[in-house]
Amino acid sequence: MKFVRNTWYCAAWSESIGRGPIQRKFLGEAIVLYRSESGDPVALSNRCPHRFAPMHKGCLKGDAIECPQHGLRVEPSAACVYNPHGDGKIPRAAKLKPFPPHERDGIVWIWMGETEKADPASCLPSAMPPS
Ligand code: FES
Repeated sequence: MKFVRNTWYCAAWSESIGRGPIQRKFLGEAIVLYRSESGDPVALSNRCPHRFAPMHKGCLKGDAIECPQHGLRVEPSAACVYNPHGDGKIPRAAKLKPFPPHERDGIVWIWMGETEKADPASCLPSAMPPS
């Protein structure tokens, strides 16, 4: 099925996103949502780049989310910043997919398409968040 990707999708009511990671699905993709320490919403793909563990079952270490399986940590930018194993080297492919978020009028929106095209000024309310 084809979806319109370069647009804003209503992800959740603002109050339903906090410091405990949650999972939601949009356009068939599992996404983990949480807030950084400064309160900004974060939206990333929910499959660990190592062995695909669901990141929302992990925990937050500062602004980074830690995989529940082997402990890779990924920052809100989607880059892996910590590997607790071996020499600690971070493989180039160890990153999640970012979904730029935008919070407005009590709703957190996420951009499902090309990140460089995400313009918060184009975010117009047109749908209600999932319950
Ligand atoms: S499955 Fe996430 S670090 Fe291994």
